[in-house]
Amino acid sequence: MKGVVLAGGLGSRMYPLTKVTNKHLLPVYREPMIYYPIRTLVNAGIDEILIVTGGNNAGDFLMLLGNGKEFGLRHIDYTYQEGEGGIAAALSLAEFFADKGKIVVVLGDNIIEKNIKQAVEAFEKQEEGARILLKEVPDPQRFGVPTLDGDRVIGIEEKPSVPKSSYAVIGIYMYDSRVFDFIKTLKPSERGELEITDVNNFYIREGKMEWDVLDGWWSDAGTFESLRYAGNMVAETGANKI
Ligand code: DAU
Repeated sequence: MKGVVLAGGLGSRMYPLTKVTNKHLLPVYREPMIYYPIRTLVNAGIDEILIVTGGNNAGDFLMLLGNGKEFGLRHIDYTYQEGEGGIAAALSLAEFFADKGKIVVVLGDNIIEKNIKQAVEAFEKQEEGARILLKEVPDPQRFGVPTLDGDRVIGIEEKPSVPKSSYAVIGIYMYDSRVFDFIKTLKPSERGELEITDVNNFYIREGKMEWDVLDGWWSDAGTFESLRYAGNMVAETGANKI
C-alpha cells in the first residue's frame, strides 16, 4: 500500500512562525515536524510515499528529505498544492500517485506515540471502503467528532460547538480508490475548504467505514498550544515507537 503525507496549506494560524517557512518544517523537539508523519507511514511498513506540499518554501522539503535515505526509503514523490483549498483538495493531487490502489493518508502536523501497524494490516484485509482512527480527547470541539451508535460511527461533524462524543477523528485516514471520485463532488465548506470530514461521511453513508481507537498519545501541532504540547510529549515519552 502507498502513503501520502499532506503538508500543504499556508499555516496561517501560526503567524509569524510560518511567515518565512512552512509549518511542517518547524521543530517538534529535536526534529522537523514532517519527520513524524513520515515515520508513522514507514513504521507501518509503507515505503512508497508522496509528500503534498505548498506555500512559499516547497523547495526546502526536497533539501531536507531528499530521497528519504534517513527513513530507509529509496525514493520520495513530491507534489505541490497551490493555495489552501483544504485537506481534501490536497489529497486530490495524489490520484495519479495512488494509481487506483488503496492509500494511507497522514496529516503533516499529526504526531503519534506508538504505531498504526495493526490498523493498516486490518485495512489491507478490508475489501473496500475506508478506515479512520479515533482518540478520546478533552477538547473534541477542535476536531472532527464522530457520532457513535453502539460500535458504529454514524456521522462525523467538523469542529462542532456541541460535540456528540468525546472522541476526535485523528488525521490518519485509509481509503480505497473511490476517494478521488468522492472528492470531485465536494463543495467548499463555510471556511472555504474541501473538507476531509465530508469525504469520510460519504463512506459512512454507504456503510463502508471501519474504525479503530488509537493506542498511545496523539497530538496535532497546528496551533501554538498543540505545538508546545507535542514537543513536550516527544521529549518526555518519545514518538513513533515501533
Ligand atoms: O488533526 C486532526 C484534524 O485535522 C481532524 O480532526 C479534522 O477533522 C480535520 O479537518 C483537520 O482539522 P484542522 O482544521 O486542524 O486541519 P488544518 O487546516 O490545520 O490542516 C491539517 C493539515 O492538513 C496541515 O498540517 C496540512 C494539511 N493541509 C491542510 C489544508 C487546509 C493541506 O495539505 N492543505 C490544505 O489546504
